[in-house]
Amino acid sequence: MRQKILDFLKRKQGYISGDQISHRLGISRQALWKHIQELKENGYEIVAVPHLGYRLESSPDRLYGFEIARELNTKFIGRKIYYFEGIASTMDTAFQLGIKGAPEGTLVLAEAQTKGRGRLGRNWISLKYKGIYLSLILKPGILPYQSPLLTLLSAVSICEALKEAADADAKIKWPNDILINDKKLGGILTELNAETDKINFVVIGIGLNINNEKKNLVSGATSLRNEKKQNFNRVELLQGILRKIENNYLLFKARGAPAIIDKWREHNITLGRRVKVYSQKEHYEGQALDIDKDGSLLLRNDHGLTQKITAGDVVHCR
Ligand code: BTN
Repeated sequence: MRQKILDFLKRKQGYISGDQISHRLGISRQALWKHIQELKENGYEIVAVPHLGYRLESSPDRLYGFEIARELNTKFIGRKIYYFEGIASTMDTAFQLGIKGAPEGTLVLAEAQTKGRGRLGRNWISLKYKGIYLSLILKPGILPYQSPLLTLLSAVSICEALKEAADADAKIKWPNDILINDKKLGGILTELNAETDKINFVVIGIGLNINNEKKNLVSGATSLRNEKKQNFNRVELLQGILRKIENNYLLFKARGAPAIIDKWREHNITLGRRVKVYSQKEHYEGQALDIDKDGSLLLRNDHGLTQKITAGDVVHCR
């Protein structure tokens, strides 16, 4: 209901009469008034003037589920949204929901995380109201070894959305780092609930620094605000990312991995470079040649041997 009331308030520049809203939504004036109070408690500034009605003055900078769902227009991504002001990690909550049978496309959003995690057991600093921290449940019907493709797909979707919504030139460092001007803006963590040859569900975790101020960024990291010298509307950015993920996911289902890999090649800055890759056990060095059809990195070492690397941290040498 809050979403529908907001629709009326946002579409109208000036005042809209309470009678008109309550009549169109089939609720009493009293019920409408209660919903308006709730919206005010959520940080919406709404002015009420007798005989004129209600007018929306401003909306809070929050990723409320009903804000994200408004005009999202996706088929299944984000049709069910769980929103938290603070949470340990959206990954854990999404996993619990997945185990309980949450449908594909279920989205968990948090304004802050106390135990946000990154790849290879690292922490993910999640400053309140400054970033986008989400976990998305997918049920792709692919084999577990193919799941890195979903990481590539998400990285491509983020780059496309950042270009469209913020005119930002984001690049991908294999496998999942989103960079702007060679500094890390965000990352993707893909975790599975799977058996040997069957994925039950995948949780895609995305963390992006959006409106973080420079002083709060660790060395090597950046935020969209830091690069573009302005604050961004996180709701619009997030909606853009979700739409791109859905489109690319449908493309992946229709045309398979090559369609995604082609797009990934367009946005990446790893291929063609000399790189060092640090995996948990070993470290490799050589020329990043290409990515394989399962998303692995193909590296030619100094002995001319091509190695296939499934996971690790890449350092670009030059
Ligand atoms: C990385 O670059 O190492 C991946 C970072 C992924 C961070 C996101 S934030 C939302 C989701 N919840 C987590 O705990 N981690 C991911």
